[in-house]
Amino acid sequence: MPSVLAGKRILLIMGGGIAAYKGLDLVRRLRERGAAVRAILTKAGEAFVTPLSVSSLTGDKVYTDLFSLTDEAEMGHIELSRDADLLVVAPATADLLARMAQGLANDLATTTLLATDKKVLAAPAMNVRMWLHPATQRNVARLRADGVAFVGPNEGEMACGEFGPGRLAEPLEIVAAIEAMLAGPTYLPLPSAEPKVAGLIGAAPLAGKHVLITAGPTHEPIDPVRYIANRSSGKQGYALASAAASAGARVTLVSGPVALRPPAGVRLVSVETARQMLEAVEAALPADIAIFAAAVADWRVADAGSEKIKKGAGGTPSFALVENPDILATVSKAGPGRPGLVVGFAAETSDVLVHAREKLARKGCDLIIANDVSPASGVMGGDRNRVHLVSPGGVETWPDMDKEAVATALIARLATLNPAS
Ligand code: C5P
Repeated sequence: MPSVLAGKRILLIMGGGIAAYKGLDLVRRLRERGAAVRAILTKAGEAFVTPLSVSSLTGDKVYTDLFSLTDEAEMGHIELSRDADLLVVAPATADLLARMAQGLANDLATTTLLATDKKVLAAPAMNVRMWLHPATQRNVARLRADGVAFVGPNEGEMACGEFGPGRLAEPLEIVAAIEAMLAGPTYLPLPSAEPKVAGLIGAAPLAGKHVLITAGPTHEPIDPVRYIANRSSGKQGYALASAAASAGARVTLVSGPVALRPPAGVRLVSVETARQMLEAVEAALPADIAIFAAAVADWRVADAGSEKIKKGAGGTPSFALVENPDILATVSKAGPGRPGLVVGFAAETSDVLVHAREKLARKGCDLIIANDVSPASGVMGGDRNRVHLVSPGGVETWPDMDKEAVATALIARLATLNPAS
């Protein structure tokens, strides 16, 4: 999967804050994907990372001073902004967002932002109270209305010991948001009233697309009170549905029995068995993107009883099992009505990549998201996930992230693949 970042020029504006060190990783990730990165470091940013460390990673001079004659002679603020394909503000502090919202031009960062005619992506990072303060929310709404896109902030524990939204999005989430903005012809700022605090905000790379997602386990009855099922909380599938809706898609979520609230703005079709899930999926087609995150039971009891099986006289019952339909394989091979992009999951307890590659070929899908669900990994039922994207072109391994972050990054990535409907 070649990145849309190859050959692109990113101007990274780094504000201050403890998250600035993640900006260094962001530079590395962008360059790995073939982008050229030029950096502006604010005065506050310089208190957290040195121009030398930034420039060693960008392989370029770091710009810090509006009134430096050498800087202006080499590349003035107008050229800095015009020369880039995209401006990324990360970390975007409360102060920097406030100055951007006001249209101030009191340092090189804000002057460049004011002078630009390019798209701008902001990745906020600040204390949770500062983020939730009406002044910051007002500034974010103003900037969103002006067309600035946002990624994050994420929820979690903060360096200051508090918990809540305010953490800088993970570098790979920012990369995914950048890829989505560079790839998508559709860049529609959401209405400024939307008070969403996490995920991809501002960009609607999936506007007009139908995304079909399966999630949760299936329950295959043995009798009216017993069933066979796989362990699955449905969290990853629900997070994907939420991220796809935030990215502007029309979302159909076909879900087995789970204890989760359906995400806002998503059409939920609740099912119990694999056969019902297949039926619901087929009824929901056509779709532009189909993501099969459900843990479908492979087998069902051949003739499930209509009465509860009693212990006792008959001894231990034995059951004949029959194989369930493979929903992913069926849809992957569906001919003309096949979604432009079909994504499967492979939850494995060993040899994750070997099995994932085999599954990619056998099921005929375009991408397998593989993860290790061995008990030691804590993925099953947990909030975090470490995934590998396995496509015919190769394997990409993402760092350990929470399931929301995986969902946001994955949806942004799928949007860059821009499926034909
Ligand atoms: O073969 P396995 O169950 O490991 O494959 C996992 C992938 O296939 C997941 O994407 C899952 O949702 C999908 N699947 C399916 N129908 C089945 C079995 C698996 O859609 N009957």
